[in-house]
Amino acid sequence: MSTHPQVVTVALGAPLEVRQVSTRRPKGNEVRVRVEWTASTPLDVHQALGGLLVVKYPQGLGDGTAGTVVSSGPNARYQVGDKVFGFTWRSNEEKSHQLYCVAPDILLGKVPRGFTMQQAVTLPNNFVTAWHTLTSDVGFELPWPKPNDYVPPELDEWILVWGGSSSTGQFFIQILKWYGYKNIIATAGKQHHDRLQRYGAAACFDYRSGNVGGPISDFLSQQHQGKHNIRYAIDCIGSRAGSVKPIAEVVRSGATVAVLLPVIIADAVDNQKPVYTLDAEEDVAWAEGVEVRGVRTHFWLDNNFLAEKLQTEIMPAALELGMVEPNEQVVVEGRTLLERAQKAIEMLRRREVSGARLVWRVAEEGEE
Ligand SMILES: NC(=O)c1ccc[n+]([C@@H]2O[C@H](COP(=O)([O-])OP(=O)(O)OC[C@H]3O[C@@H](n4cnc5c(N)ncnc54)[C@H](OP(=O)(O)O)[C@@H]3O)[C@@H](O)[C@H]2O)c1
Repeated sequence: MSTHPQVVTVALGAPLEVRQVSTRRPKGNEVRVRVEWTASTPLDVHQALGGLLVVKYPQGLGDGTAGTVVSSGPNARYQVGDKVFGFTWRSNEEKSHQLYCVAPDILLGKVPRGFTMQQAVTLPNNFVTAWHTLTSDVGFELPWPKPNDYVPPELDEWILVWGGSSSTGQFFIQILKWYGYKNIIATAGKQHHDRLQRYGAAACFDYRSGNVGGPISDFLSQQHQGKHNIRYAIDCIGSRAGSVKPIAEVVRSGATVAVLLPVIIADAVDNQKPVYTLDAEEDVAWAEGVEVRGVRTHFWLDNNFLAEKLQTEIMPAALELGMVEPNEQVVVEGRTLLERAQKAIEMLRRREVSGARLVWRVAEEGEE
């Protein structure tokens, strides 16, 4: 049986390792993809250093795949040679930090002409998260295909995207703008405000400037159009002290708040395990009448329409139509697969990434 290398976590907080795993022939609607580019996301840190969710050692990491189909099952919609990208995460075979991943075709879309795999791989986790959160937890319709005369019913309501410069936050804002939402405000470091306003934010606030709630309330009370309270808030950061509590201070009764889980209580610092909770209400003084929802994107496949369309059709179309542009990319360099994977985890842990997604090569060019 042939084998290929996969990056795995082998024990809580231990250095990553590369193991040889078996290379399987795809069945049914599955394809085998030679992973050329992948992304590292905070979930890799949460799992490798914090053991978040169920981690069974040795466990593969990575959920963003961009690569070339090298073998396809008899019912797969993609053929050998197709360039594809997708959110692949449910098993070690699907995980993306390995030379080959095997996944059903519904988890993948074709990389549109004019985009590189390095750019495309910034989408899957973020785009699916934003779409799922908006439709499932926030309750917006996002009809697909979008009717030409579509006007969102929530047009006058104010939407707060906390952490607008995060990889996910950028997609939330862009998707909302494309669907016609105008009353969007975001928090982000000052250096990202121009970009987020181009993406669709009516105003941005620097979350580092102390009490950001004051300027947000002042801004809302000065608006002539729309209502003056935040009706929807999306927490793209999930830090109890850094985002959840500050949001609880600015929302009032009637608001819906979607928090991307986990809520981080303590970051992973040198030799110290991070602390998380999956309860966004725990130890936070939410005003009465605020509906708080903890987001788990991994459930998006429960929606049959999205399972069939989100990655195969909507995600590639979002790039082609200009609904979204990819995140900026910081390319993680390193001599080996293991070096790149380990370095990416360290960069994320130290929060060295601002307004961009970490991406790195898996298969080298021409590697079979
Ligand atoms: N539950 C789910 O389904 C799900 C799905 C996807 C992601 N997530 C979680 O969501 C979180 C974010 O993921 P990501 O990939 O978007 O992260 P990311 O791109 O790595 O986030 C980095 C950004 O976070 C911003 N930031 C850090 N602390 C902040 C704060 N207190 N307030 C506002 N902005 C802050 C920084 O902004 P500046 O550079 O502007 O300072 C930086 O640009 C992670 O914990 C991830 O695990 C959950």
